[in-house]
Amino acid sequence: MIKTIGVCGAGTMGSGIAQVAAMAGYHAILFDVNAAMVQKGRESIEKWLVSKNHTDVLSRLDYTSDITACKADLIIEAIIEKPEAKQDLFRQLAEINGPTTILASNTSSLSLTALAETIPYPERFAGMHFFNPAPLMKLVEVVSTDRTGEDTLQILIDVAKQMGKTPVRCKDAPGFIVNHVARPYYLEAMRLVEEGLVDIEAVDQVMEATGFRMGPFRLMDLIGNDINYAVSCSVYEAMGRPQRLQPSPIQEAKVREGALGRKTGKGYYRYE
Ligand SMILES: NC(=O)c1ccc[n+]([C@@H]2O[C@H](COP(=O)([O-])OP(=O)(O)OC[C@H]3O[C@@H](n4cnc5c(N)ncnc54)[C@H](O)[C@@H]3O)[C@@H](O)[C@H]2O)c1
Repeated sequence: MIKTIGVCGAGTMGSGIAQVAAMAGYHAILFDVNAAMVQKGRESIEKWLVSKNHTDVLSRLDYTSDITACKADLIIEAIIEKPEAKQDLFRQLAEINGPTTILASNTSSLSLTALAETIPYPERFAGMHFFNPAPLMKLVEVVSTDRTGEDTLQILIDVAKQMGKTPVRCKDAPGFIVNHVARPYYLEAMRLVEEGLVDIEAVDQVMEATGFRMGPFRLMDLIGNDINYAVSCSVYEAMGRPQRLQPSPIQEAKVREGALGRKTGKGYYRYE
């Protein structure tokens, strides 16, 4: 039975997931290697909980930059989108915890099958892909590899439901369901801008006017351009480099400049 949920990475996604876990009644531990990010995550969670009068939830949250404190029944990894960093983290987590702990990755696009190869108990490993912002978005993709145990998947589905989410099962594939289907939304928008046919604001305005909640550029700024670019690159590679999925130089330039979107105050737009 899941009582404690560890969340690794206190950035955009990790802090939201820890908040959701604590609000669902679990004891949540938020861990990040960077103590400043732990503090930032803590401040944003506490501000939100206090503003919504959920102060009872505060006592169910612990914060740490010490990985040995990351002991839980379920650990959800939400660190940078780099396979080596994730594999290294899972290796440490498997050592600190035992074979009964479920390890889940919130990766948007990396191969879970490849990640599972370095995990000592692959039957206790799966994807648990939340959407941004995690406290608001209902969908969670629960992603299995060929080695994931059925009991593990069922536990993740039950946890997602307990969090008030709508879990959808899917098999490991480039971009799973949403990031696979949505890739052209971003890429074709950047292509139009690259070709000088239209500007960024106009694309967003038009797409929002047709009913999309957010235009592609505003959405990429929300997601984080580094994350979105990493997803584009890994889906492109995993699909055998088709021209239609080629990552955009516009986005690569944003990443190089450090204009990552809302989290850095600047992306395609500026944020105060
Ligand atoms: N941003 C999105 O919209 C979104 C949506 C769904 C899934 N994801 C996925 O969630 C993960 C995190 O994305 P994000 O947007 O929250 O990133 P982010 O850049 O906001 O935060 C990443 C955090 O990970 C920390 N970190 C880096 N290496 C670490 C390590 N070894 N141990 C612990 N912490 C470490 C960093 O200090 C940083 O605080 C990625 O795998 C991404 O693909 C992102």
